[in-house]
Amino acid sequence: MAAVRSRRRFGAVMKQGVRFSGFRRVAVVERAARIAEATGCGKDEITAALHRGGLEARAADKIVENVLGTYALPYGVVLHMRVNGRDRVVPVAVEEPSVVAAASSAAKMALAGGGFHADADASWMIGQIQLVDVRDPVAAAMRVLEHKSAILAIADAAVPGLVRRGGGVRDVEARILGEPADAMLCVHLVVDCVDAMGANFVTAAAEAVGDELAVLARARVGVRAASMLCDRRRVRVTCNVPAAALGTETMPGPDVVDGIVNASRFAELDPYRAATHNKGIMNGIDAVTLATGNDVRAVEAGAHAFAVRRGRYAPLAIWRRVEGPAGETSLLGTLELPLAVGIASASQQVHRAAQMSLRLLGVKSAGELAGIAAAVGLASNLAAVRALATDGIQRGHMALHARAVALAAGATGELVQIVAARIVDARDVTLDGARAALKDLGGAVRRSAGED
Ligand code: MEV
Repeated sequence: MAAVRSRRRFGAVMKQGVRFSGFRRVAVVERAARIAEATGCGKDEITAALHRGGLEARAADKIVENVLGTYALPYGVVLHMRVNGRDRVVPVAVEEPSVVAAASSAAKMALAGGGFHADADASWMIGQIQLVDVRDPVAAAMRVLEHKSAILAIADAAVPGLVRRGGGVRDVEARILGEPADAMLCVHLVVDCVDAMGANFVTAAAEAVGDELAVLARARVGVRAASMLCDRRRVRVTCNVPAAALGTETMPGPDVVDGIVNASRFAELDPYRAATHNKGIMNGIDAVTLATGNDVRAVEAGAHAFAVRRGRYAPLAIWRRVEGPAGETSLLGTLELPLAVGIASASQQVHRAAQMSLRLLGVKSAGELAGIAAAVGLASNLAAVRALATDGIQRGHMALHARAVALAAGATGELVQIVAARIVDARDVTLDGARAALKDLGGAVRRSAGED
């Protein structure tokens, strides 16, 4: 979908230093009021934007095909996020219990070390043009590169909207793929997508230059499409967390640091573990991607292609122990991945919840959004590896998952929490367990009301 300029892109300005004590325990409307107060967005505006998930069926019908309705997900905020010295509440859309709580709790730990530091590359994407039946690939590549300025001009002319916004096609590269007997030429257009995710611009530019390239290469055009391995559009995030902020009731901070470093090393040595480690990172990144109306599949494809770039699947984030000059121990986390997210697409304009997310964040550029999304990814990873290095992930996760199980078993109102607590205590977080607890509680309620 063509990108358009957002009317209210630079909405909210988040108050700094706001603490959100007891946020989880208050009602949904009260949470909206507190976020409104902290961000300067109107409470009614937030509520209206999230009504029906922010998308009417009529609008959805204009976005994809064969629409029957819309599909809702929980929409929440990760708290305590400080990125490059600025506090943010970060909107997320996610169905998995404990992702939001875990990221918020890890963000609070990171806050003790100043929060997260993010740095994003310019929004450069790659458009690929495959040329087949090339008789002399080396000579073909030379001819293509000799005509770089003509190719750039054709490509830019295909994306006038992008050029008007300060973007455009910056470079042409040629790669020879395959064995000499059946080699093909692959031409890359390097496209600055500015504030857009950009895949449509990139594909338009790649399609526009195909015929000219075929003539120059004396070949036939094959695939023309944007590459999702957008390794010119990386984001890097770090945090340095004091050991004291990581300790538990039973485990001192420096021991937790060592446990986390061991968990990181495990992921570095073993692709089976790395896949799960990265899943924990993507829990946060995907949730921000979705809440801001971006393309989760593109982000996922880029992340995993990057993770295996050295020929072996590796963790996107690693953790190391650091000893400070005064002997203080801390944990240094670094995350790097390509992240193609934009803030200016037409579908973001149509989706009221996506618009609200961008307003709550107050981001001014695609790179700024990428930095925040990646910081939530690192926070999610920190929460996971800390839990794995201490109590295990099941306890915290199950306590939150139990509420959804209680709800599915038919509990309503206050009974949801009571049933959830019972099945957690009984170590039976299952639908059958919740139904049994509910039946039991129903009997107790009837007995106390004199119905038995
Ligand atoms: C669960 O969604 C993600 C984790 O399994 C990630 C990890 O193990 O690092 C907790």
